[in-house]
Amino acid sequence: TVAVRRRMKGKRKWKKVVGILRDLEEACETPLGRLRQMVDAIAVEMQAGLVSEGGSKLKMLLTFVDDLPNGSETGTYYALHLGGSYFRIIRVHLGGQRSTLEVQDVERHSIPTSLMNSTSEVLFDFLASSLQMFIEKEVFNLSQPVKRELAFTFSFPVKQTSISSGVLIKWTKGFAISEMAGEDIAECLQGALNKRGLDIRVAALVNDTVGALSFGHFHDPDTIAAVVFGTGSNACYLERTDAIIKCQNPRTTSGSMVVNMEWGNFWSSRLPRTSYDLELDAESMNSNDMGFEKMIGGMYLGDIVRRVILRMSQESDIFGPISSILSTPFVLRTNSVSAMHEDDTPELLEVARILNDLGVAEVALKVRKLVVKICDVVTRRAARLAAAGIAGILKKVGRDGSGGGRRSDKQIMRRTVVAVEGGLYLNYRMFREYMDEALRDILGEDVAQHVVIKAMEDGSSIGSALLLASSQSVQTIQSL
Ligand code: GLC
Repeated sequence: TVAVRRRMKGKRKWKKVVGILRDLEEACETPLGRLRQMVDAIAVEMQAGLVSEGGSKLKMLLTFVDDLPNGSETGTYYALHLGGSYFRIIRVHLGGQRSTLEVQDVERHSIPTSLMNSTSEVLFDFLASSLQMFIEKEVFNLSQPVKRELAFTFSFPVKQTSISSGVLIKWTKGFAISEMAGEDIAECLQGALNKRGLDIRVAALVNDTVGALSFGHFHDPDTIAAVVFGTGSNACYLERTDAIIKCQNPRTTSGSMVVNMEWGNFWSSRLPRTSYDLELDAESMNSNDMGFEKMIGGMYLGDIVRRVILRMSQESDIFGPISSILSTPFVLRTNSVSAMHEDDTPELLEVARILNDLGVAEVALKVRKLVVKICDVVTRRAARLAAAGIAGILKKVGRDGSGGGRRSDKQIMRRTVVAVEGGLYLNYRMFREYMDEALRDILGEDVAQHVVIKAMEDGSSIGSALLLASSQSVQTIQSL
């Protein structure tokens, strides 16, 4: 009969959709053995990137930061942070002790998308005018003119020439301002500030990971690495200068230097890549680049999930007629993925609401459950790969308990703090839990108990100001 035939057809479609989910799960698998291979591959690539320029997909950029803040810094400093989705302006006051750090003002704005592919002039004038407004609002009692010093937290790959200068290597995270590659970023901002008659000196140019490390170290001197899980993803860590073979002149007072890994560009043929990743990459502005970031960055997780739902809706009608909204790249944001994933209403009402926004009309509860499962698979893979990244750094510096590096067994088990920053980690509980769990599994309980993951908010921006403060005190001592 008609009813029976319809039911059979429905079952066939459902089977097809379940098949798509199974394929996704299989392609995203990250068993412990595979994660350990990733850890090894990351440590090997780190080494290769330190030996020669271009020796690895990991750029392992020098930062010229050798001394990290320790709490004794003094003064008032500003930081302007251009991230992936937001920019922030802050002012901090340092009283010479950890407890006297005062973050006096923070302003946060989302970055208008039009700015991301505007011109360098428009971008820097926008930043300068925002800073001008921030400063004009200040209510200090200025009896004497202040000399303002600013750290520019710039969350993109820069080839630094000193702690306060460097050129953009390449845009990432959807930014595309063509005439800027090769330009000195600090100079561009300084020029825009000067044009507006602002008496502010851009005295430090800092990657967000390096800002986060500075903030972490300020509070806890056992902090040796920092990772950002935000729109993009990246890590930096403290490396011995004698291990940075590509650096011709590795003289630093501390014998170490912070290295900005730009791990978003890590690649290994063993990474669990799906057809959705391939499509996303091919359609992106920077295809063949930032392969790791495209699997773990907040900018991309939502789009991977969207692509899976779209494929299912193309191959069956469980989502109703194909929605044109759903075909639009990046309409599904990662914060919606986390909201669906963590929807604890029995009817999955949040999932229904978000699907509705995507132009998908009412769908059955079992279809909503399927969507939650897709979020779970994509986020779990991201979080586990992220954990492998952190373990890779620990391995490289001999703190993973494997007996690597040049340190004695006793040192291997030293307390090690990794500072973590970024909305993906801070706001997405499941990502956090999966990552922490995978890290424990990779390291084993004995080692994991010595590793502390410390989450921080606004650490990148505040940390850049702290770094500027500590670099100023080094300069003062050197000029005495
Ligand atoms: C991108 C940038 C990198 C930054 C990261 C996190 O990967 O290339 O410099 O640290 O995003 O914001």
